Amino acid sequence: MGSLFPLSLLLFLAAAYPGVGCALGRRIKRAQGPKGSPLAPSGTSVPFWVRMSPEFVAVPPGRSVWLNCSNSCPQPQNSSLRTRLRQGKTLRGPGWVYYQLLDVRAWSSQAHCLVTCAGKTRWATTRITAYKPPHSVILEPPVLKGRQYTLRCHVTHVFPVGYLVVTLRLGGRVIYSESLERYTHQDLANVTLTYEFPAGPRDFWQPLICHTRLNLEGLVVRNSSAPVTLMLAWSPAPTALASVSIAALVGILLAVGSVYLYKCLPMKSQA
Ligand SMILES: *[C@@H]1O[C@H](CO)[C@@H](O)[C@H](O)[C@H]1NC(C)=O
Ligand SMILES: *[C@@H]1O[C@H](CO)[C@@H](O)[C@H](O)[C@H]1NC(C)=O
Ligand SMILES: *[C@@H]1O[C@H](CO)[C@@H](O)[C@H](O)[C@H]1NC(C)=O
Ligand SMILES: *[C@@H]1O[C@H](CO)[C@@H](O)[C@H](O)[C@H]1NC(C)=O
Repeated sequence: MGSLFPLSLLLFLAAAYPGVGCALGRRIKRAQGPKGSPLAPSGTSVPFWVRMSPEFVAVPPGRSVWLNCSNSCPQPQNSSLRTRLRQGKTLRGPGWVYYQLLDVRAWSSQAHCLVTCAGKTRWATTRITAYKPPHSVILEPPVLKGRQYTLRCHVTHVFPVGYLVVTLRLGGRVIYSESLERYTHQDLANVTLTYEFPAGPRDFWQPLICHTRLNLEGLVVRNSSAPVTLMLAWSPAPTALASVSIAALVGILLAVGSVYLYKCLPMKSQA
């Protein structure tokens, strides 16, 4: 590995699409056991199973999903779906119920299907994730300022930001990486990562790429910018290269539209 460079980071986060993700506050309580476990104590039990298909589904925020809850009970007493998400249509067939969930905006939620058969209730769960890969990942041409290059990467319309990692790679080498897990904002956002890079002789003419990774508990979505070549624009002073200094200056600027909060209030009170 090379030397550690002084760095300065400016991260700019701006809310895009106000209103998206308002439903996130309505978190569903965790169920009290593994998928398919019995809720009622077993007595005169008819053995049967309950299944949800799919068990995991990922959609862009705002979409609806269909879940198929099937069971092997010859005569189910009842079948129901428990979720904080808004329910739409229901279709029924022999041994299955097809449930529609509308306008999925919570980044992560669950739906439990409960089936009662001969007095015993069993259930199955689907995990639903709402996400949106970046609309664009754009690396600006590096700007030389003093002895450092200002590298700026714009990531637009991404969700959920708290699960995003932005990495700058120069010729395959990671020069900076930032995880945005501190950001719990529940709407689509634009992110701008600014990094001051003191380029050395080995760095020139190498391709510079900005990579993004959404790490969604089992689902990983990667995107990257078009490569930009770091051009030689100055003669490095040998002393500057010989010394290893770690000077971190992290500045974070967070801008969440007040429009978003304003718009969310009526939605929350309806919930
Ligand atoms: C986010 O970026 C897009 C594309 O550049 C732009 O149209 C939009 O206005 C930006 N939104 C905010 C809140 O900055
Ligand atoms: C639901 O699943 C059952 C069992 O796999 C299947 O027979 C049925 O056709 C499915 N219903 C829909 C609407 O996909
Ligand atoms: C089944 O119906 C009974 C009576 O209407 C109700 O109390 C119970 O919660 C229902 N069970 C499920 C799994 O929906
Ligand atoms: C990001 O990656 C996703 C999934 O591979 C792809 O559908 C999408 O078009 C990509 N977006 C950009 C801006 O490259």
